[in-house]
Amino acid sequence: MGSISTAGEAAARIAYICSDVIVSVQPSLASDSEFSGFLKKYASNKAPGVVANGIPEVLPVRHNADPLLSVYGPVRSGKLVSVTTSSSILLRSIPHLYKLAQYPVVLHVSLHPSGYPDYSDITSIRQSGFTFLQSESLQEVQDIALTAHALAIKSGKGVIHFFGSASVKQDGPISFESRELVKSVLDLNAVRSFQRGKSTETGIYAEDGRVASVGVPRSQAVLVKGEPSGRVSPVGDKSAGVSTVGSASGSSRRDSSVGSHPSESSATTVESVAPRPISSEDIYNFATQIWTTVKESTGRSYGAFEYSGPTDADAALFVFGADTAMFGQEMDEASPLEQYANAGLLTARLYRPWLGAKISVILPKTVQRLAVLEQVKRKTTKWGPLLLDILMSLKAGGGAGPIIVGHQLGYIEKSTVRQALRGIFQNLLSDAPIQNLQIGKAEGPELSDEETKLKQPSLENAYLKILDQVFGQRLYIANRLGANNAGISSEISSNPEFGFGSLLARSSHRKRFVEEAQKTAKSAEFTTDVPRQWLSKWALAAEDAEKANDLAPEVITRLSTDGSRVATDMLSRKGLFFKEAQWLIGSDAWAYDLGNSGVHHVLASGENVNMLIIDSQPYSERAAADASRRKKDIGLYAMNFGNAYVASVAVYSSYTQVLQALIEAEKFDGPSVVLAYLPYNQEADSPLTVLQETKKAVDLGYWPLYRWNPRREEQGEENFYLDSERIKKELQDFLRRDNYLSQVMKRNPEFSANLSGSYGSEVRQLQKRKAKDAYGKLLEGLQGAPLTILFASDNGNAENLAKRLGNRGKARGLKTIVMAMDDYPLEDLNTEENIALITSTAGQGEFPQNGRSFWEAVRNSTDIDLATVNFAVFSLGDSHYWPRKEDKIYYNKPGKDLHTRLLALGGKALTECGLGDDQDPDAYQTGYSEWEPKLWQALGVANVEGLPEEPPPITNEDIKLASNYLRGTIEEGLQDTSTGAISASDQQLTKFHGTYMQDDRDLRDERKAQGLEPAYSFMIRCRLPGGVATPKQWIQMDEISTKLGNETMKLTTRQTFQFHGVVKGKLRPAMQAINRALMTTIAACGDVNRNVMCSSLPQHSQYHADVHAVSKKISDHLLPSTTAYHEIWLKEDDGKTQIAGDAVVDHEPLYGPTYLPRKFKITIAIPPHNDTDVYAHDIGLIAIKGSNGRLEGFNVLAGGGMGVTHNNKKTYPRTGSMLGYVSADKTHIACEKIMLVQRDHGDRKNRKHARLKYTMDDMGPDVFRSKVEDLWGEKFRDPKPFKFDSNIDTFGWQKDENGKNHFTFFIENGRIEDTADFPMKTGLREVAKVHKGEFRLTGNQHLILSGIADEDLAAMKNMLKKYKLDNTNFSGLRLSSSACVAFPTCGLAMAESERYLPELITKLEGVIEENGLRQESIVMRMTGCPNGCARPWLAEVAFVGKAYGAYNMYLGGGYHGQRLNKLYRSSIKEEEILEIMKPLLKRYAIERNEGERFGDFCIRVGMIKPTTEGKTFHEDRLRKWSRMRKNRGFCIRSGAWDCIIEALLWIYPHSCIYLGGRNRASVYTQFYVVSELRNYLTFALVREKVTSSHDRTFFP
Ligand SMILES: Cc1cc2nc3c(=O)[nH]c(=O)nc-3n(C[C@H](O)[C@H](O)[C@H](O)COP(=O)(O)O)c2cc1C
Ligand code: SF4
Repeated sequence: MGSISTAGEAAARIAYICSDVIVSVQPSLASDSEFSGFLKKYASNKAPGVVANGIPEVLPVRHNADPLLSVYGPVRSGKLVSVTTSSSILLRSIPHLYKLAQYPVVLHVSLHPSGYPDYSDITSIRQSGFTFLQSESLQEVQDIALTAHALAIKSGKGVIHFFGSASVKQDGPISFESRELVKSVLDLNAVRSFQRGKSTETGIYAEDGRVASVGVPRSQAVLVKGEPSGRVSPVGDKSAGVSTVGSASGSSRRDSSVGSHPSESSATTVESVAPRPISSEDIYNFATQIWTTVKESTGRSYGAFEYSGPTDADAALFVFGADTAMFGQEMDEASPLEQYANAGLLTARLYRPWLGAKISVILPKTVQRLAVLEQVKRKTTKWGPLLLDILMSLKAGGGAGPIIVGHQLGYIEKSTVRQALRGIFQNLLSDAPIQNLQIGKAEGPELSDEETKLKQPSLENAYLKILDQVFGQRLYIANRLGANNAGISSEISSNPEFGFGSLLARSSHRKRFVEEAQKTAKSAEFTTDVPRQWLSKWALAAEDAEKANDLAPEVITRLSTDGSRVATDMLSRKGLFFKEAQWLIGSDAWAYDLGNSGVHHVLASGENVNMLIIDSQPYSERAAADASRRKKDIGLYAMNFGNAYVASVAVYSSYTQVLQALIEAEKFDGPSVVLAYLPYNQEADSPLTVLQETKKAVDLGYWPLYRWNPRREEQGEENFYLDSERIKKELQDFLRRDNYLSQVMKRNPEFSANLSGSYGSEVRQLQKRKAKDAYGKLLEGLQGAPLTILFASDNGNAENLAKRLGNRGKARGLKTIVMAMDDYPLEDLNTEENIALITSTAGQGEFPQNGRSFWEAVRNSTDIDLATVNFAVFSLGDSHYWPRKEDKIYYNKPGKDLHTRLLALGGKALTECGLGDDQDPDAYQTGYSEWEPKLWQALGVANVEGLPEEPPPITNEDIKLASNYLRGTIEEGLQDTSTGAISASDQQLTKFHGTYMQDDRDLRDERKAQGLEPAYSFMIRCRLPGGVATPKQWIQMDEISTKLGNETMKLTTRQTFQFHGVVKGKLRPAMQAINRALMTTIAACGDVNRNVMCSSLPQHSQYHADVHAVSKKISDHLLPSTTAYHEIWLKEDDGKTQIAGDAVVDHEPLYGPTYLPRKFKITIAIPPHNDTDVYAHDIGLIAIKGSNGRLEGFNVLAGGGMGVTHNNKKTYPRTGSMLGYVSADKTHIACEKIMLVQRDHGDRKNRKHARLKYTMDDMGPDVFRSKVEDLWGEKFRDPKPFKFDSNIDTFGWQKDENGKNHFTFFIENGRIEDTADFPMKTGLREVAKVHKGEFRLTGNQHLILSGIADEDLAAMKNMLKKYKLDNTNFSGLRLSSSACVAFPTCGLAMAESERYLPELITKLEGVIEENGLRQESIVMRMTGCPNGCARPWLAEVAFVGKAYGAYNMYLGGGYHGQRLNKLYRSSIKEEEILEIMKPLLKRYAIERNEGERFGDFCIRVGMIKPTTEGKTFHEDRLRKWSRMRKNRGFCIRSGAWDCIIEALLWIYPHSCIYLGGRNRASVYTQFYVVSELRNYLTFALVREKVTSSHDRTFFP
């Protein structure tokens, strides 16, 4: 049996067991209360309670966010709610308490400050209608907590259970509660009946008339003294003919019985039941009954008042404070000589209702004098509340009864308790006792009271950091947490109202100072004239922050040297020379009661005060938020005030806009309110979660970004600037009312559709209906049976099948409609005649995105009846996508589920559910070609004669050919403002122009639910040979990303700039801006030669320049010649341009009209640096240095390439084959010829087999070489020797041969952005403004600041330091890592990459440090899909996205990019990744040979086989039986043999295993078992099992 040692745990346990919902009030979401840690633990263990039907729900609420608001929702929906809290929230919650008293809510209240609590928190709310119970020992906390719940349930009224936690700390541990006791005291019938009920009340502040009541037989409901009364029968007393069980839920409106639920037993009585309000006597009876049960079970007895001491005592103490036990002990042990030796001790267990009459029953009649001790610090009346209670109770009848003397109980400790008692009794027994005597010290030492200390949630620091950044030294936060405010508690000083007051004081102080300075500037008392002049200059500018702060240091210096009295006087307050940026920080908690909040005070004052209000409520919580937590819109409130600057910002959406708003707010002369969004559920939320929440909220207008300046109008500008696209309804109404909307729309016509568009699912419904009806129209007039074909498809396979099926159906005379499942109006389903459904499988056995809503509706609907509907389902999947045995259920799960469900709904299956499997020889086509004929058969159209020939599907080759040299209809598409998208074929063509259409995948679901098209935008990729850019170009790129993109830039693995989030309307301006920066984007993507890469080589400038010149030459030489690029993007609209159809006849001398079969990549590496991964490209050039230190020529590799398709063994990564050496001057020609051979021989039928690597393997390198040589007319010479030693960058400072300096920055995954912690983008822009050399982008997505002269070095170092750009102190693993973009923009991404790899590395860094590997470089790469943009297959360890959260893991790549890795595990998630990586890294640290690289190590110890060439990439993935036999053998007789085999294989990698006894099986089976096991078991688990097992014998 467990034990409990704190009051917090005792109360938390009972609360959890006895409630449906526990509102856990916490200091912040990051710091626990004395209860919350336990509650969280129970909830995360999914511990069941007694009361809750499922697992009780724990709801954490910040203590300053009006916590009791959270009670209404659940309690009104029939949930039993309890609250665990400190007493500090009670006073503020009085309005709620009055209402909640009428519900069976229990508050467990720990009195604060702990150590010397103030009972006035309790006495001040004693009239709120709650029942109050007090505990004074640990055991009592448990018993009384239980009593509180039982009583609340029984009475239907709220109960507050209070105690001082610190005073029970000395108590020894107690046992867990007895479940039997809990069940027997809780009236479970009453619980269920309450849970079934639902209250209709909705108000929060207004009294809604609910009164807890009890049911009594009408015959007994007689009015006595104007009040209804009735005999209330205690639990179990059935004699009254009605049980009181109904009372628990029996609160009723005053004038009706609506809302009261008849009790279970009342249903069996003949008498009707009348409700009447619960009386004090009822409470007493219930409590007594509960305590009787407790006593029977535990022997511990409790009463409304409790007396201990002699039955003939002549005096007694009534204690209402924390230290009753201490007094009791001292009195028990008192020597007979003490005055208090024969005194008794009285306490109140049931404090409210106050049943004074019961005191005289237990207080011995012999007591003549009674001292009342009250630990009430904040007293509002002369007499303590308890004293008044007792006087009323004992003296009501007149003068009889004991003399009662009130005392104020101060802080007492063990060593002073005797002295205190002596003092009390001396006074009490004196002839004229003094009332209100203070006993003990007035102030107690506050125990470290972590609980009530406010904390700034660390996530929210983001905004404070930005304030620091923007205002630096000038920043003054009036209510900064943790600031030192002498004599004022942190709770008060961090309160914004307090801060506001202090700001006003500060401002007027400075105002006086300025006036004084103005006067002094005219004084003649200065020693010289200079300080006077400076002072008057300053005084003029004092209110202009920039000027004043510029002048301030000067003035101070001049004054310091003056020495006069006036100067010294001014200097004594020199801080005031600076003009501060004064800010107040508040939280969204104010939004609940705006009129009384700090916001209101600030606005009403009209003072120049800036407020930053941080809102942390996640957008998705909005839906779940209970209606009663009605937050008001602070922004609207402030705008309506009319005199304030208002901005709404979100750091994770637009950093620039945050900066702008803060600066404007500070400049604004008057109140400013900046609402800052930072949604999180828990402090530990990852930035990714916060980012996604923010994006959704901003995109859908829940949190619009805007800036409002009511004075801008005076300058002829608009007051309102919308910085995001959409705004919510309320704001829209405000703007419309004020006629601003029309202005916004005028200025930004592109917003109008969004601004005025309505929201919600109706739109979506309407769209579906429209689409379907349009189809219907099309089909009118056609004959034949209808066939509706619905598909769900993520990547087009299912969609293409569906469309083809539609065409074939038409050819057979059927009326076919084809549409995505989610576009189909479900209400039509019942009326279909024939319906075919084709779905692929996404995620882990999930429906693709465009079928999810359909499936949810079909699965959950109750009114679908398919009695007259014929259906057929075909499903596409991959039986090996999730290779573990227990994951087989995911194979084609959506299709199978759909088939089963449609049958269950009464549909008639036309065929069996068809299954397509990517593993079949023809992939899904294999299964499909069996299924389709069965469908035609069932529909009676199998044998149709004369079917027309099917048109072949349109391929990329067709698109290229028809595009008129890459024009297509791009121009027209750009002009269509009705959509953010362009047509499918233009999407292919724009790639050749260096831009892709994408959509924000974080927002897809949410937007779809809102009836919106996906958030389309474009990625733009520049062409930047060798990755070299000038500082000016850097600044231009920076500007483009800020103004036209999503404020970030990506430095790519191909050494170039990439912009994301460029919306269609800004595409042309962006292209033009890039062109103005003397860059282009042409052929940055598409089936052409892409950006040519080159090692960045900071050490040898001249040599680098030679090689870089070749990269540029190749790049230029292989550029397409089409003029379409210029026409579409660059030419101004002069009406002369000839686009598409009419006929500039272009010519592509190198490419021809169909360009290349597939993309083509060239790179140059300069040994020993393979930082551009020379083996991974179609052409890899290895630079060879001549004896003069200059470039001589290149060894040429061809046929490298990365992209593959998961589970398609016909695709594989490949390293380039050596063709031979060529001199530098001929290199571009050699490259051209290689490209041309590929142009003519590459596979144009199958894009998955079109890259040069397949041409090379199909032809063989020798044949390929000779084809190139034939075309070229020259021969490759023998390759020259070279040596690589790494493929990563060298970070930090390096000097080149000319003495110039170079600094390599660590840019994690190439993302250039500003964050609150690290304003990298700003820093680099500032650097670029002064830099005289160049920027070099590296192939590992980092950046080199190149060519800094010694004389500029110190200044540059300072600058890097200032912006924290000089930090390269990261683990070797992080420095050697890289990730592709993936989510949210890349359409191919199956899993996160750039946003996740840093987190994964952080999780591994602990092991890295522990094992001394911090400095070790291990090349780790991650991509979101097998397209492989970050070249994962050359990494020592790689993760390639398979589905959201799941990756294929590869091991064994060569350290300098020379060897491919190999699949080690399929579809594993983070947990497994860590389980594999952690012990593996540890092993590497211990067992590696001198200088051995991680990839090589994995191969040597047998973790993985080496991949010798691309063609063997898929081979040898499992250990071969023949190899194992060579070594040892093991025999395992019984027991946990599976685990043991695995363990043995782990320990002895090349082993042979025999299964003994009855488990003897074929060699094959054993091998299978072992290889399967490898997939299932974690090493940790295995190790544990094997050491605990004795079932192994071993013979060599
Ligand atoms: C991210 C992802 C997850 C997949 N998950 C499964 C799965 O759980 N079960 C399955 O049978 N097939 C799975 N597959 C295989 C696909 O269903 C299959 O390749 C199908 O042909 C894709 O069709 P589509 O292009 O219409 O989306 C998955 C494929 C991808 C890309
Ligand atoms: S590897 Fe895949 S997911 Fe990553 S950026 Fe390239 S295409 Fe997108």
